[in-house]
Amino acid sequence: AARGHLAARRTFMEGGAELDIQLAYLGASRQRETDVPYGNIVGLNAHAAVLHYQHYGLQAPAARHSLLVDAGASVHGYASDITRSWAGDDALPLYRALIEGVEALQKRLIASLAPGVDYVDLHLEMHRELGELLRELGVVSLPAEDQVAQGITAAFCPHGLGHLLGLQVHDVAGRIPDHTTGDIRHPPQGHPMLRLTRVLETGMAITIEPGCYIIPMLLEPLRNDARGEHIDWKLVEALAPHGGVRIEDNLVITAEGALNLTRSPATGL
Ligand code: GLY
Ligand code: MN
Ligand code: MN
Repeated sequence: AARGHLAARRTFMEGGAELDIQLAYLGASRQRETDVPYGNIVGLNAHAAVLHYQHYGLQAPAARHSLLVDAGASVHGYASDITRSWAGDDALPLYRALIEGVEALQKRLIASLAPGVDYVDLHLEMHRELGELLRELGVVSLPAEDQVAQGITAAFCPHGLGHLLGLQVHDVAGRIPDHTTGDIRHPPQGHPMLRLTRVLETGMAITIEPGCYIIPMLLEPLRNDARGEHIDWKLVEALAPHGGVRIEDNLVITAEGALNLTRSPATGL
């Protein structure tokens, strides 16, 4: 998968269309389209904001703002699930800063992985960090905690921090009954898309995939209520042609912390 991601980036920088990028990914990762563990997401520009974008454009757009590739590989029946976001020649400095910020917060979340860590807490920490980042970039003026409480960060990132990974991409048993009460542990209020609500244990394979997107359908409602006053809509509109950012790594929880299967000298990612 890493070889595919690097080839995808190269093809993007050379001006390829979404289909060219997809074919470069498949070629470099030595997979035909029916072999990949899920349909590769290859989104140029605003398409990066379509969470499960499944189209491959045939024409290269004139402006090269961004590329988001969410694609894995299937090996002995096990799936990987990796996302990278790249800035193109026409990207604004604000978008480059957003990529850097999301990558930095992703690395901080990964550094805190260990057995005994509650994944729900990590998901909420992602939202708090996203609030900090949106404030630093001048996009939202409220303190991070208020952004989380008012559902502002959820409008910028409507999906969960990640999930269990294994034979299935979204592997089973992300939400199981509590030992004592027997009740399924549901995601917290306002975060229904979180697929993993367990305390981490040694040997679990998971993803960590924070994101930040300009999804008009989710952000427009904020314009029309009190929350809209705290948002710099000019910056939102400037970011919109870039779609968004997601950075996703695959990790195995170890006794000491976590082994990052995605970022290593061997993968080049
Ligand atoms: N590629 C699907 C996911 O990241 O969960
Ligand atoms: Mn994933
Ligand atoms: Mn993914």
